[in-house]
Amino acid sequence: QNSLLRISDLTKEELLDILNDAHAFSCSHRDWQLPDRTLIANLFFEPSTRTHYSFASAELQLGARVEDFSAAGSSVEKGETLYDTVKTFESIGYNAVVIRHSKDEYFKELENINIPILNAGDGCGNHPTQCLLDLLTIYQEFKTFENIKVAVIGDVTHSRVANSIKEAMAMLGGETRFSGPDEWIHKDESYMPVDEAVKWADVVMMLRIQHERHKETMAMSKEEYLERYGLTKKRAEMMKPHAIIMHPAPVNRGVEIDNDLVECEKSRIFKQMENGVLVRKAVVKRAFGFAPFKDVKL
Ligand code: CP
Repeated sequence: QNSLLRISDLTKEELLDILNDAHAFSCSHRDWQLPDRTLIANLFFEPSTRTHYSFASAELQLGARVEDFSAAGSSVEKGETLYDTVKTFESIGYNAVVIRHSKDEYFKELENINIPILNAGDGCGNHPTQCLLDLLTIYQEFKTFENIKVAVIGDVTHSRVANSIKEAMAMLGGETRFSGPDEWIHKDESYMPVDEAVKWADVVMMLRIQHERHKETMAMSKEEYLERYGLTKKRAEMMKPHAIIMHPAPVNRGVEIDNDLVECEKSRIFKQMENGVLVRKAVVKRAFGFAPFKDVKL
């Protein structure tokens, strides 16, 4: 079994194989199917639109039978643990589980689970398939990762995207800098003020303010946040001509990014979502032990 829990668990070769398979699913391997009667359960203990339904779309397109678990109405309400919930899915015949949970590295409790676990986001920790779809989007644009500069701007400390993209870009020969309000960023060597970061980057990746993970209410108004740290139209004009805008979404339009920029010519935000289905098909295929496609090159 091939679980996917953290981007850092993958070798460079494995990561590139997943991106290559994702690409193959967009062209010559569109019709590839899982064995009949493959059962996959999607366990989302936190809200999600993109990750949940693009996993479901990927699984259904691959011919799997898919069950969407809801904690409400399940025995979680009677106090059943995450481990016992997942062990139950394993025992009743499910072949893989996709899990999003608010606890950082929840999967450490699941070491005795014997079916693949695909991490759809853990607390402020990891979101490996988001990172993979971001990488696919970057590669489609620049046809390389070497020397590509990514500026991740916003609520960096509560993000499960920021560190994964930094690790992955470093592995692939690119570079990542972080920017945002002092209280949501570590001012280490990766830090760059917002205007500088926007001018420097080939990829300007804006992050949502993760209010649900904050202990205190934000002191700034939405308008002030946009002006000081968001991607305004004025800031977007400072971007390099070839640079692109990304955002994992959901987007708070008019807060971290001007409403008019969400679907502008430089934006790849909806392309990222499209790529989400492709990379999730690739990680589901890999989870069941199928070798990477070798006849297609990214
Ligand atoms: N990007 C992302 O994880 O979106 P969802 O929370 O809607 O899944």
